[in-house]
Amino acid sequence: MLVDGKPYRTVWLKPDEPHIVQIIDQRKLPWKFEVVDLRTVDEVARAIKDMWVRGAGCIAATAAYGMWLASLEAMRDPDYKLATKLGARKLLQTRPTAVNLMWAIERQLAALSKARTDIQALEMTRETAESIADEDVSACRAIGEHGLTLIQSIYRGKKPGEPVNILTHCNAGWLAFVDIGSATAPIYAAKKAGIPIHVWVDETRPRNQGSRLTAWELSQEGIPHTIIPDNTGGHLMQHEKVDMVITGADRITRKGDVANKIGTYLKALAAKDNGVPFYVAAPGSTIDWEMNDGLLEVPIEQRGEEEVALIEGMTSAGKLETVRLFPQASPAANYGFDVTPARHITGIITERGVVRADEAALDRAFS
Ligand code: MRU
Repeated sequence: MLVDGKPYRTVWLKPDEPHIVQIIDQRKLPWKFEVVDLRTVDEVARAIKDMWVRGAGCIAATAAYGMWLASLEAMRDPDYKLATKLGARKLLQTRPTAVNLMWAIERQLAALSKARTDIQALEMTRETAESIADEDVSACRAIGEHGLTLIQSIYRGKKPGEPVNILTHCNAGWLAFVDIGSATAPIYAAKKAGIPIHVWVDETRPRNQGSRLTAWELSQEGIPHTIIPDNTGGHLMQHEKVDMVITGADRITRKGDVANKIGTYLKALAAKDNGVPFYVAAPGSTIDWEMNDGLLEVPIEQRGEEEVALIEGMTSAGKLETVRLFPQASPAANYGFDVTPARHITGIITERGVVRADEAALDRAFS
């Protein structure tokens, strides 16, 4: 997408210095747009774990490029194969919920296993990383086209000029992928098609990916939006102010249960109670064919208490400040994700079309 008129992906190889991976440091947004160089697999692992980059698709592509750096480093090691495997292990240990990370590493390891020489393996890790990034972009573009048809049918039922109101949670925008995004792709496609859109942006405590990242993205694209505290969606739905919900996903089980940012489940319940369609937008790389029951099987990341206790903001004097929100003695819990059972999901918008959240439909779409 464009930032100040210049096109960016979220992760790429530095032009003329391909041994350096470049990312956008998402911890700094919306205050500062900063590109950071990553030179080692350890630096990539830290960037994923500490959420310089985040979002399932972006994590996957960054890890795929991390494998290219692991492979470069392994060329200096007496045991190339073992060294790349250790690199893979470091990357796999960063974040547990988004299955796209494992998918990308497995794809790299499969490519490595086919190489006949270390040099060939090295080239393959670079090619595979570039393919993973390019495929992410084309999948998101296709998600946009399929999601657009849903928005168009809602728009046909509206009074002329009335916007389609879409509620989204967390950030499943281009920052969460390599480009375009999943939940935002239909929104960007609708804008291009001339359909007026208004987005309700859940703040998404504790890290505020909605108010910090999604709102920044939508502002860059000139899309009307309103930031709401996380508890507001149900009230808006009761008063017919939401036409549809679109969220992303970090892992979809084969029967269609969806793990996504904490709070997604409550939005799905409110949507069901109010007859509001609840869509999940995600590429096929988010489906974990090995898992069936999301509630029992998906590993839910728990992060540090400080993310709940501390909040960063900018003072009116333009100074960044972090403050504590509650008593030092009070403990906090920080579950990163929850699971929305398939029965609450109207459909999954994928690169293969809008698919029912059930095993037979997912199987048909992706076989
Ligand atoms: O903890 P994060 O910021 O990585 O979580 C991101 C989300 O939950 C997104 O909604 C999700 O990754 C789906 S979009 C790729």
